[in-house]
Amino acid sequence: MTSELTIKKPDDWHVHFRDGAMMQAVLPDTSAHFGRALVMPNLVPPVVTMKDAEAYRQRITASIPKGSSFKPLMTLYLTQDTDPDDVAAAFSAGLITAVKLYPAGATTNSDSGVRDVSKVTAVLERMAEIGLPLCVHGEVTDADVDIFDREAVFIDKVLDPLRQRTPGLRVIMEHVTTEDGVKYVQSAAKDLAATITTHHLMINRNHIFQGGIRPHYYCLPIAKREKHRLALRQAAVSGDSRFFLGTDSAPHVDGAKESACGCAGVYNAPNTLACLAHVFEEEGALDKLEAFVSLNGASYYGLSVSEEMITLKKQPTPVTTDAKLSTAEGEVTVFNPMCDVHWCVV
Ligand code: NCD
Ligand code: ZN
Repeated sequence: MTSELTIKKPDDWHVHFRDGAMMQAVLPDTSAHFGRALVMPNLVPPVVTMKDAEAYRQRITASIPKGSSFKPLMTLYLTQDTDPDDVAAAFSAGLITAVKLYPAGATTNSDSGVRDVSKVTAVLERMAEIGLPLCVHGEVTDADVDIFDREAVFIDKVLDPLRQRTPGLRVIMEHVTTEDGVKYVQSAAKDLAATITTHHLMINRNHIFQGGIRPHYYCLPIAKREKHRLALRQAAVSGDSRFFLGTDSAPHVDGAKESACGCAGVYNAPNTLACLAHVFEEEGALDKLEAFVSLNGASYYGLSVSEEMITLKKQPTPVTTDAKLSTAEGEVTVFNPMCDVHWCVV
């Protein structure tokens, strides 16, 4: 039985740092375990231009704990007014790693997102030309589409036509939550990949309503039926290089979650790797953990793998993680996997 695992330092391919006091509070959690993270641009107002991304990177860099080699990888928030030249300039300057498509209204701070994808064709074509990947929040926002069907409908109605219209565009379906999403990625050529979050490997939609409504399990895309969670697990542990970790760690203060209209987002940065070791062990696939957290993403983005290593150890008794993170804005609840986790990063 494996009780110790040393792997290349992981990367997080989808994380929300926010800004200001919240950013300062959450950065140490991500930079403790991850070498790099692809930072989501859904601030208010969003990170839209090269200038915005430069300023945001500067603010992040200034807050990284001393002595840490952590590197933020920046993204731009695609809008219908995005200038292809600005995007290309940001990419050739080495400032951005991806552009992020949020359908307008799909999730937290997405009001400036794209209403009509046909309006961003010029940017997407330019991205295909220069080899800049597009990260997609894959949900339709039509009020008449059931919230549990939004990902599957997005694939048929938006993503597949978009990919056919823009040959050569490298796409990442972020935080994939359905069997449909997994199958779609598996059926595609090498220009499509997907990130999977920690929580979607551990909870299904029942957890959100277990004994009452549990706002800390509410995120978008929302957790789906058990069969979908199992499909995600199979994809994550398969070693298939098109699937990799994007935690979607998304802090909101408790007051904003425990509310009559609570925000979507799960804060899992502190215990993600411990939880993933637990999941991969349950699946008898600890030997595939490194591919999922440290190798596949770097390879899809054409970046080198970390030279640093981290070690995970299995402890004889369950490991406890702080249930809350204190921030100057208030407390943030940490993801509770609702099971004993014996692994920790040492
Ligand atoms: C994210 C957030 O809070 O910014 N929330 C979430 O539930 N995942 C937005 C997102 O990535 O969809
Ligand atoms: Zn997100």
